[in-house]
Amino acid sequence: MSKMAEYISIAHMKDHVGEEVIIKGWLYNSRSSGKLMFPEIRDGSGLVQGVVFKKDVDEEVWDTLKSLPQESALEVKGIVTSHPKKEGVFELQINAIEVMHESEPYPITPKEHGIDFLIGHRHLWLRSKRQWAIMRVRHQMISAIQDFFNKREFIRIDSPILTPAACEGTTTLFETPYFDLGKAYLSQSGQLYGEASAMAHGKIYVFGPTFRAEKSKTRRHLTEFWMVEPEMAFYDLEMTMNLAEEFIEYVVGRVLEFCKDELTILERELKPLENVVRPFPRITYDKAAALLKEKGAEFDYGNDFGAPDETAIAAEFNKPVIVHHFPADIKAFYMKRDPENPNLSLSMDILAPEGYGEIIGGAQREDSLDHLTKRLEEHHLPKESFEWYLDLRRYGSVPHAGFGLGLERTLAWICGLEHIRETAPYPRMIYRITP
Ligand code: 4AD
Ligand code: MG
Repeated sequence: MSKMAEYISIAHMKDHVGEEVIIKGWLYNSRSSGKLMFPEIRDGSGLVQGVVFKKDVDEEVWDTLKSLPQESALEVKGIVTSHPKKEGVFELQINAIEVMHESEPYPITPKEHGIDFLIGHRHLWLRSKRQWAIMRVRHQMISAIQDFFNKREFIRIDSPILTPAACEGTTTLFETPYFDLGKAYLSQSGQLYGEASAMAHGKIYVFGPTFRAEKSKTRRHLTEFWMVEPEMAFYDLEMTMNLAEEFIEYVVGRVLEFCKDELTILERELKPLENVVRPFPRITYDKAAALLKEKGAEFDYGNDFGAPDETAIAAEFNKPVIVHHFPADIKAFYMKRDPENPNLSLSMDILAPEGYGEIIGGAQREDSLDHLTKRLEEHHLPKESFEWYLDLRRYGSVPHAGFGLGLERTLAWICGLEHIRETAPYPRMIYRITP
């Protein structure tokens, strides 16, 4: 193929209108009307409609393209033009094509497929337009998360994935044999190590994969998911709620600004995202429980909220809502009790709007050695495994707090997806470990 033409990516076509260029990619779709053919080509950076006039190309080019199976790899040459009707859309007037690999019949065709089939072909499904858009939003979110904390001088210090003890309760632990040392567990949360790191650096964040052996098969649960967990020395619950609110506003704002095309592909309604502006409503657990009662929900005071409860509470507001001061009994051992009412914990959850449930869980941490030791006993956790953690309360203990945001839950909400499984590149769920 002539080397006169520049090899460019589809995302950069707007800078090459009128020029002859080369594009390398895969055949996504094609339709033809006798004398004209419209092959759609994707190259990873985007999707472009090619235009081929039968009279303008060699018969061989025409015939090759006409019989080329979907997802065949190819290199095409042509002139970039602006779409006659759609502003900001470009086309490629193709005059030459070279096939790099003729695909076998592709399993994912434009017809409807069942979800099991698609998830089973996740390694190919990722090429589809919607899935492509979701991964791009995921990338933008990850980038926004890092920028948010880096700009505020938080230091990223990641926690280990192989750990000797539980963090978020013993019922959802994945365990694995660990040489001569007995058992190791896949981390449920990086928080405990994050607390130690915060005592060394003041403000830190942990960002990595976490694991929960969740037996529940719901649209909100994965067994492997990513969590970002800021932890701050000298922060109390109130300061932490303020930070979390600012953080969500920032991440949503970034996606709205930089992922317009992706949100269009996903047919995401923008208004609910544009509403995500501080301040967010804040209600106590008690108030939320009363609200559920008023709405006639079957909810007993003192229990944790189930998914339908979260949906009902969130439905009262058009932004994320912060629920705080949960009963201590239903929360993790490390949460500090409310000095005004020791039955309550200095905790908060943030519920996403539109029925997506809890996206953030956080709290002020217990900073007293005595209280924390007692909590470990009450939760039947082995003190030996937590000695290092107790050290943080022995050597310069200070008030501190933090939270964890689930990347995939938040992404499902931002993209408006029905199920969390589409938010992970290779989702892990109770009934799914392949591909
Ligand atoms: O509320 P969780 O369990 O909180 C913690 O793990 C704390 N240690 C965080 C901290 O304070 N540093 O989990 C935090 C968030 C949830 O709000 C949810 O978004 C997500 O992690 N999450 C899950 N996401 C997908 N699948 C699951 N099975 C999840 N479990 C929790
Ligand atoms: Mg939680």
